[in-house]
Amino acid sequence: MTRSSSFRDFETLESYITKQQKLHVNVRGTFSQVLRRIGVASKIIESKVRKAGLVDILGVNGSVNVQGEHQVKLDDMANSIMKAAFSVIPSIAGMATEEEEDFTAFDNIEFDGSRYLVMFDPLDGSSNVDANVSIGTIFAVLKYDKATSKSSVTKEDFFKPGRTLSAAGYVIYGSSTMFVYTTGQGVHGFTLDPEIGEFVLSHENIKIPDQCKCFSANETNYNKWDQATKEFADTIRYSDDKRYQKASSRYIGSLVADFHRNLLYGGIYMYPTDVTTNKPKLRLLYECAPLAMIAEQAGGMASTGTQNILDIVPNQLHQRVPIVIGNKKDVEFYEELVKKYS
Ligand code: AHG
Ligand code: MN
Ligand code: MN
Repeated sequence: MTRSSSFRDFETLESYITKQQKLHVNVRGTFSQVLRRIGVASKIIESKVRKAGLVDILGVNGSVNVQGEHQVKLDDMANSIMKAAFSVIPSIAGMATEEEEDFTAFDNIEFDGSRYLVMFDPLDGSSNVDANVSIGTIFAVLKYDKATSKSSVTKEDFFKPGRTLSAAGYVIYGSSTMFVYTTGQGVHGFTLDPEIGEFVLSHENIKIPDQCKCFSANETNYNKWDQATKEFADTIRYSDDKRYQKASSRYIGSLVADFHRNLLYGGIYMYPTDVTTNKPKLRLLYECAPLAMIAEQAGGMASTGTQNILDIVPNQLHQRVPIVIGNKKDVEFYEELVKKYS
């Protein structure tokens, strides 16, 4: 039976993942199952986010996450939804979340297919919830390559560079809800159609436009940046360089939303180390590495200034790193400035 063109145009996340899976000869259904599961979890989170104002679940719940930060109730809820989604499928060997100090292992499951580790930030930008600002979920999927699927997952199993990720992506809960992911074959975006409850392909093979239209940083931290970072920001903001003449400051304070906008319009997001405390802010496993994979697949780049984010071998689950992410040309320019001042 031939399908009508209107049906063919109606590509959903489900059908697209299945299609991509067929392109790989050796891939069995387990990896696709992991991605689909994230899709389902994100739909549940989105429904909670949309109801947040109605059911009085906003506000601080009194607990503090392992990063020592305020945790709003939606963080907890999103975390539980992701955990519940992963705990029931045997292809997931373990997971680590921004909201919990330790990882969770799903061992002793009679399963002989490929298994994966999932890392996620269940709700990014959650401090913006009360103001109805876009927030998101970020995820990364890593192949669990122990010899047998029944061996125990250890913390070190998560310590693989971003370059080895099997998939990465995010879901943004904004004016619409979008699921954006890569498996190393381009970046694809799906918009949730609320009427049918499906993610529908809306942005195939996203490439970051080669223009620095948006500059996103918390500029009140300027005095806490090193010289190279200050010169970088000053060049984008004030120089006569043609490349930066159309640049505008755009900072939401919600990484997913800032990154997503820059991916579509072109630009740079950065969160450098605070030189007064010597502390970077964003987390390598749950935020920086997955977005770096997306950026690179879209023709962009992410760097600490001295190292490509995708080359960093983690040594802690909650490791934080400085990051400059966006257009390749501009990230390379930042690296040159860092070299100049070192
Ligand atoms: P999270 O809500 O997961 O803790 O992440 C917050 C992060 C990120 O979303 C955002 O880009 C950054 O913190 C904002 O930090 P500032 O408020 O210091 O600018
Ligand atoms: Mn976050
Ligand atoms: Mn978070």
